Amino acid sequence: LLSYLTSISSKQIDDILVYTVATSETDGFKRYLESAAEYNIQPTVLGWGQEWKGGEDIRHRAGGGWKVNLLKEALQPYKDDKDRLVLFTDGYDVMFLSNLRTITDEFKKTEARVLFGAESACWPDETLTSLYPVPKQGKRFLNSGLYIGYIPEILELLNRKPLVDTDDDQLFFTQAYLDEKMRSQLKFKLDHTSQIFQNLNGAINEVELFTENEKENPELHLQNAVTHTRPLIVHGNGPSKLKLNALGNYLARAWMPNQGCRHCKRGHIDLQKKTASEMPLVYLALFIEQASPFLEEQLQKVYDLEYPKKRIHLFIHNGVKYHTPHVADFVEKYGKAYLSLKQITAEDGISEWSARDLSLDQCLLKECELYFSVDSVSHLDNPHTLRLLAEQNRTVVAPLLVRPGKAWSNFWGALTTDGFYARSHDYMDIVHSDKRGLWNVPFLSNCYLINATLLRQYDRAKLNHVRGNLDADMAFCANLRDLDVFLFVSNRVDFGHLVNPESYDITRSTPDMYQIFDNERDWEERYIHSDYPENFNPDKKPLQPCPDVYWSPIVTKRFCKDLIQMMENFGKWSDGKNQDDRLTGGYEAVPTRDIHMNQVGWEPHWLLFLQRYVRPIQEHIFTGYFHDPPRSLMNFVVRYKPGEQPSLRPHHDSSTYTINIALNEVGQDYEGGGCRFIRYNCSVTDTKEGWMLMHPGRLTHYHEGLLVTKGVRYIMIAFVDP
Ligand code: UDX
Repeated sequence: LLSYLTSISSKQIDDILVYTVATSETDGFKRYLESAAEYNIQPTVLGWGQEWKGGEDIRHRAGGGWKVNLLKEALQPYKDDKDRLVLFTDGYDVMFLSNLRTITDEFKKTEARVLFGAESACWPDETLTSLYPVPKQGKRFLNSGLYIGYIPEILELLNRKPLVDTDDDQLFFTQAYLDEKMRSQLKFKLDHTSQIFQNLNGAINEVELFTENEKENPELHLQNAVTHTRPLIVHGNGPSKLKLNALGNYLARAWMPNQGCRHCKRGHIDLQKKTASEMPLVYLALFIEQASPFLEEQLQKVYDLEYPKKRIHLFIHNGVKYHTPHVADFVEKYGKAYLSLKQITAEDGISEWSARDLSLDQCLLKECELYFSVDSVSHLDNPHTLRLLAEQNRTVVAPLLVRPGKAWSNFWGALTTDGFYARSHDYMDIVHSDKRGLWNVPFLSNCYLINATLLRQYDRAKLNHVRGNLDADMAFCANLRDLDVFLFVSNRVDFGHLVNPESYDITRSTPDMYQIFDNERDWEERYIHSDYPENFNPDKKPLQPCPDVYWSPIVTKRFCKDLIQMMENFGKWSDGKNQDDRLTGGYEAVPTRDIHMNQVGWEPHWLLFLQRYVRPIQEHIFTGYFHDPPRSLMNFVVRYKPGEQPSLRPHHDSSTYTINIALNEVGQDYEGGGCRFIRYNCSVTDTKEGWMLMHPGRLTHYHEGLLVTKGVRYIMIAFVDP
């Protein structure tokens, strides 16, 4: 930016000078310059690098006179230039939507010598309302953020009377406009219908984006649907800045239907060629603020991020006692790999708000360059996430994370007036990644990267996670918005997803097993055998250890371990007698020592598993039989154990087909055991953990459970379609 600033003064287009004021390089000012560059406009920047002298809290209070004084001074060398135009715009909340030629031509059509933008509020002195002429159409009141005019008239206006830097510029120009003599003498007009200038405050519902379809390479323009004009400069004055942020995602060719995200490339840096020690120093803060399913995998993905660990300081706040062992395992396994590690445990009793604030300060203590916040629900499936976000080089940038198959994500496209969630026109397009890019949004959470310069700029009094009764993330974003920091969310590539913690019930012994409904994708990843798809490989013959007994990999060892734990933790194994109160008839002819799925509240989950994973195998093997969903009343885990019940006498099952999943390993956990099919005199004894036997239940497949001689054998049984 600095090199740009030193190179500009000589490059103004001959017949128009463009000025703005910017004391520092805010996100809004970067966007301003980007839009200017898009239309070959090179504004002269006044006040750069200086302390702002235009009064405190310009957004809410009067001020800005300094802008007038700066311009007055800058125009001195041109004071005799009668034919030259000057265009002034605010710098932090303005975008150019056109080139200077078009702007000049439009201005000339108005036959004014001085033209200011108009807005719907009489600000800062409402009592002046009645003095304003009423226009035939459009907005009535003057706004001082955008104006254009011939140099002599503009200078006359600026010199009308002296003003102090902290006086209000808008009031200053308003008084001049309301002076009838001056108005006619200077040919001083307002752009009531936004032929050139669109001030958004009070007009956010009047504007829309549109494309000209007939064009080969369409771009999105701004249109005022009320005045039917296409403004050439847009200003997010006062509280309309979020509207400008939303529009700015598209305007000035930031994003184009055929070219996608063009502003994504701005400021992008390449870290791929950097050596490990040259990589930016990261402060990675992990927050476990709620019980979260699949946390072990989430932590593993954090470790798997491809970024030199010796450039990462790790901070963990675990506010959930249940997760203490998971964090301990992670720390023991990987803690030493990081440059440093700071842990705050559930026992420390520190609130989320304090922990988050503390992590910001810790980042600065460690002289971090980047602060990366990751919540326990954020699964960073893409191991390049951290590097890609760093390369994006924004003040704040988040990877888009969505609950799979749902509209729930880690950002909001818009806000209600009281600061809560509102849906934006493009929310679903972004969530579904139908549009890819980098989106300036009013709220994001769960995972984001912050350039530590921002943390140095504002201390914890201004930049913190506390605001009334708000959640920490809402407070933080509200504070960032107040500082005019842009919050970008990126879906340029897929970064990962969110888990849904809402139904996660840690009073269960294996709560993740119950997540098949709400976190299907993670459940499948943890519990379904990695070779499961091979069951459908057309080049492979299904394994058939005995006639019409098929053998398929279906669940992981983790599934088996967790299912056994679920049952052993429940512990109420049946007594193996014929009398069985759990059955409608109260009688079981061939009883086993078992626990039914409905006793542990896992029957709906099991039935979904049957439908989703077992049924397709059945349809693939026993072709022509379709029953969807499969019905199954008897679903249970059996325990064979010497001294309890080591075997089961020959019997038929009351099922169309039976499935039998081995939950542990022969030779390791037990000896003996297996299943013998009497008609074929064929046994399956070398059962494999996580593999399923599937066979017809009646008539042909009379079978028995073979004697377990040592250890304990567990199997999971279901009688499907009885
Ligand atoms: C509105 C009017 O549009 C503006 O003309 C008037 O001066 C103040 O009220 P607003 O959008 O509320 O402006 O304020 P903001 O954009 O925050 O500030 C006005 C401009 O002053 C900025 O765009 C920028 O050009 C300049 N400014 C402000 C700085 O350069 N540094 C600062 O610290 C603050």
